[in-house]
Amino acid sequence: MCQGKQHEFLQALPKCEHHMHLEGSLSPELLFTLARRNNIDLPSSDPAFQSPSSLLARYRQFTSLDDFLHYYFIGMSVLMSAADFESLTYDYFRIAHSDGVLHAEVFFDPQVHMHRGVPYAAVVEGITRGRERAMADFGISSEIIVCVLRHLPVEDGHAMYTEHAVPDLEVGRVKGLGLSSTELGNLGTKYTSIYSDAENRGFNLTAHAGEEGGVEYMASALYDLHVTRVDHGIKLGHSPELMREFVDRNILVTLCPMSNVELKCVTKIADLPLRLYLDQGVKFSINSDDPAYFGGYILENYCQVQDAFSLTNQEWGVICGNAIEGSWCTEERKSHLRERLASVLQMFEQR
Ligand code: HPA
Ligand code: ZN
Repeated sequence: MCQGKQHEFLQALPKCEHHMHLEGSLSPELLFTLARRNNIDLPSSDPAFQSPSSLLARYRQFTSLDDFLHYYFIGMSVLMSAADFESLTYDYFRIAHSDGVLHAEVFFDPQVHMHRGVPYAAVVEGITRGRERAMADFGISSEIIVCVLRHLPVEDGHAMYTEHAVPDLEVGRVKGLGLSSTELGNLGTKYTSIYSDAENRGFNLTAHAGEEGGVEYMASALYDLHVTRVDHGIKLGHSPELMREFVDRNILVTLCPMSNVELKCVTKIADLPLRLYLDQGVKFSINSDDPAYFGGYILENYCQVQDAFSLTNQEWGVICGNAIEGSWCTEERKSHLRERLASVLQMFEQR
């Protein structure tokens, strides 16, 4: 919770979340419950797995992206049935709703589930049911983005993409293609065959880049993969030329402030280039990434940004407005979100 009197305003802002991995919303409590129910052995040699609280304590000591990913992939191994994915998805939307999210575009990682014997169709079916219930109960609109995983062979990602993701992307059940997991050593150039096919088919494209990797990973996402969105993307301060390209091409950067601190990409939130991006016209949204692992959902990220940068209401209007415009939803939905933003800004202007 932020220190300032702005909290009520931050809560009220109509939020769009663009960078949240559904598997990263698995709380330690649900992880242990599902492990018991599904007879999954958690690693007994790691003392972190003694209890939900010891696991949570270990989460506060991540040293790097790969250190986090080790726990993230063990965690998701407890998700076995469509019903498990449905509960996970619905629980995320319940919390997102209480944080003022009106529209969310969330990632999922089918390759690791398929390797564990969970069919792609069960994953998508469960997630879809969770989304539909969230729309009915909370009025949250949502889309899903399928991620290719960088730590696995490209051929594995290619097979998942071709056999499973393409049919779902063609009919809109999946809204976009993403690229995540270990960044260092895995430049965009490795994935051009997947991304050029996706581009030719007219799919929405994004990729994690410029998280642990330098600005060259962001350049590769833009020039080799032709993305229209970059996830994390905190390195543009190192290249004024690339920053200008991001502005000119209207590329949305999906920032995840608490994640970057927890994974030691920056020492503190104030070190992130938010002020630079606002001043230079780089469009960004603020997101939670893996909220169950990084200590907070989207509102907590908004609050910590406010504590670090003391933004004006007008600047928050720009951030939330850019998040609406950069969303992969219908024009009709955008116009509803714009109206909600205008009315919140007006309400808090009068106070
Ligand atoms: N970076 C890369 N891969 C991920 C992340 C992240 O922050 N979260 C979940 N998968
Ligand atoms: Zn991420």
